[in-house]
Amino acid sequence: MYRDPVESLEPLHSRPALNRTLRVGMIGIGTVGSGTFRVLVRNQADIAARAGRAIELVIVAARNLARAAGIVGEGVALTADPMQVAAHPDVDVVVEVAGGTGPARDWVLAAIAHGKHVVTANKALLAVHGAEIFAAARKQGVAVAYEGAVAVSIPIVKALREGLAANRIEWVAGIINGTTNFILSKMRDEGLDFAAALAQAQALGYAEADPSFDIEGIDAAHKLSLLAANAFGMPLRFADVQVEGITALQGLDVACAEQLGYRIKLLGVARRQASGVELRVQPALVPATHLMAQVNGSMNAVMVKSDAAGLTMYYGAGAGSEQTASAVIADLVDVARLDGVNAAQHVPHLGVHEHATNALAVLPRAAVHTSHYLRVPVRAVSQIQAVTARLAEQKVPVRQVALAAERPGVGPQVLVLTGPVAQGTLDLAVHALQARSEVAGVVATLCVELLEG
Ligand code: HSE
Repeated sequence: MYRDPVESLEPLHSRPALNRTLRVGMIGIGTVGSGTFRVLVRNQADIAARAGRAIELVIVAARNLARAAGIVGEGVALTADPMQVAAHPDVDVVVEVAGGTGPARDWVLAAIAHGKHVVTANKALLAVHGAEIFAAARKQGVAVAYEGAVAVSIPIVKALREGLAANRIEWVAGIINGTTNFILSKMRDEGLDFAAALAQAQALGYAEADPSFDIEGIDAAHKLSLLAANAFGMPLRFADVQVEGITALQGLDVACAEQLGYRIKLLGVARRQASGVELRVQPALVPATHLMAQVNGSMNAVMVKSDAAGLTMYYGAGAGSEQTASAVIADLVDVARLDGVNAAQHVPHLGVHEHATNALAVLPRAAVHTSHYLRVPVRAVSQIQAVTARLAEQKVPVRQVALAAERPGVGPQVLVLTGPVAQGTLDLAVHALQARSEVAGVVATLCVELLEG
């Protein structure tokens, strides 16, 4: 018999009243924490309307109390001890935005043990200790929300969990570190050198406290492990991500890629294959006409290929104070809505719910199939044929061959674009090529990502 779904709802008066203010304790008040406070105050009426209740910062833990007082003013308690926030009886949710993985783990686990929900933008913490943290949260029936930890202003965690919940996800790929994209854009568009571009990114508050996390690809690998866990229901596998940053990238390859019609971007790629999942962060050639190639400065973009929705793409600021605050507060609004709801109704925690496909293996480097760009320094332009012949002998499919435009002080360079080939096959071929007398220097290789269906 048909029942009107509206009539079958519980009457409002029989539900628990949830209009009490959600009280927030915050650990850390640096770039993200101060932005979160500013946006919470500036947009408090709209945020309360959306959350169904007011959200109020009641206590902050900070290393520099005088500086913290200058940011939050009167009316917010201050402490130098993060554990006081984690255990505070008047706190419903702890926002951890201090960063780092050691003490932050202890604070977050303490907050969970005290029955607090946790919101964090700390991708390193979750990538390294996420399994333990999500298991503890599940046991306690509290939420751990982390939209600000991945691609900052882009609601990609919510897109994967909610908007694309119907889909089998085939791959997720994108630019998920603002600092490196800013550096690559500045070097390409303004001719800035690497160190000057990094210094600007640091001054703008984009870089991690230790910027080697950005430029060596580690920050992107933290985020990729969170994306893959959401996309494929697999456990967090940060330690298995193949990681290559942008420190070894040569300006010559940026220019040669442009000559072939490509741009180089630091991409994170999580792709389902028949025998497992590829997880890699690498500088890669992207067709210059592709939307991903137009993502510049500190902006991020993520593409998702799924079976029903098809290709979708998400674009937004990848670093910044209020840009991250936007995601942190969206998580607070989620917590405000689900606080008091039966814990079984919470969105399942990463990698620990009963349907988690733990069996998905991470493919070793040698088994990853992708197309490649090679730059082969040769003794004479006539050796272009010899290079392609050697690659063919090694079963590397060659799609395009060209000579690099002449540059003062640079010898002849053969540029090759391959078809899809296993990384192991390519490594052997490059090794063999490198030993040939016609090759005059180190062969450079980069992945090519077409980012299409
Ligand atoms: N350092 C990070 C980045 C901050 O540049 O992307 C945002 O996660």
